[in-house]
Amino acid sequence: MTIKAAILGFGTVGQGVYQILQTKRDHLTKLAGAPIELCGILVENLSKERELPYSVFVTDQYEQILAQQPDVIFEAIVGEEPGFSYLTKAIDQHIHVITANKVMFANHGNHLLTQAGERVGIGYEATTAAGTPILGTITRLLQVNSITKVEAILNGTSNYILSSIQSEGRSFQDALEEAQKRGFAEADPTNDIKGYDAFYKLMILSQLIYRKQPSWETVLCEGIDQITADQFINAQQQGSKIRHIASIEVVNGKLNASVKPQVLPPSHGLYPVDGVDNAIHLIGDLVGPLTLRGAGAGQLPTASAMVEDFLYILQSYPVKQHI
Ligand code: HSE
Repeated sequence: MTIKAAILGFGTVGQGVYQILQTKRDHLTKLAGAPIELCGILVENLSKERELPYSVFVTDQYEQILAQQPDVIFEAIVGEEPGFSYLTKAIDQHIHVITANKVMFANHGNHLLTQAGERVGIGYEATTAAGTPILGTITRLLQVNSITKVEAILNGTSNYILSSIQSEGRSFQDALEEAQKRGFAEADPTNDIKGYDAFYKLMILSQLIYRKQPSWETVLCEGIDQITADQFINAQQQGSKIRHIASIEVVNGKLNASVKPQVLPPSHGLYPVDGVDNAIHLIGDLVGPLTLRGAGAGQLPTASAMVEDFLYILQSYPVKQHI
């Protein structure tokens, strides 16, 4: 008896999932109650040079992945499409899905969750703060609390660049290149440095916490690419740090959200958050202020969130086991 899983996209995150399925094989088998069989990997371009596991079926045709009858699909593709169409088809066929695709999920997450209903599991922890388990904390551990305010660092690349400039004196370009080399930044880093990536993540959080999103055009969205040398110097002289902050709160029954660089004094709760870390500071009416901090990008932290979702889904939904 096996549980069949497929991976869509074999870039940084898809390869991370593959790696964890290999290195944690025995542990996962014990936890899941059956061995996991990787039944297929979907790539966009079969002729691209990369290391592919020779023992696994690899294709560029999604229909061939579905023909393997996976129980669970890991989606690690970038952009709204084809990710959205692929997951819609998978849910139609009662396949559980786990995604790291924030652009797609900010746009279509609600649709997918409605489509899945009670019968299909959807894991999307990896969309929001990579290895920092904020969605699971809200969903499973803060159900009774009303969350009135969230302030967060949600883009690992931006935080890495800002930290490198401020504490190591590196140039913006140099820090960005390092973030790309280390697998933090997107292949095209525009969304990272212009603030859109943090914006999408904030919209996913908003949908989860408040069951709605503010109208996107009302949300101020600024990235870190317009910060001047003078602004960095001024912050440093004041003993402050510039950080890229996504925030949302309920004001007079309305959602107010923004995504922008801010100067944080040492007394601010997000001041100590350096490097590639993300942190989410929220206020619950019962629990009070709470901050969760951890890796906000990178291969294994992001894949960790996906594999943890995978296990949670296996433990929560009946999965047919293939003999
Ligand atoms: N490029 C993203 C970031 C990856 O830097 O936060 C994690 O979503």
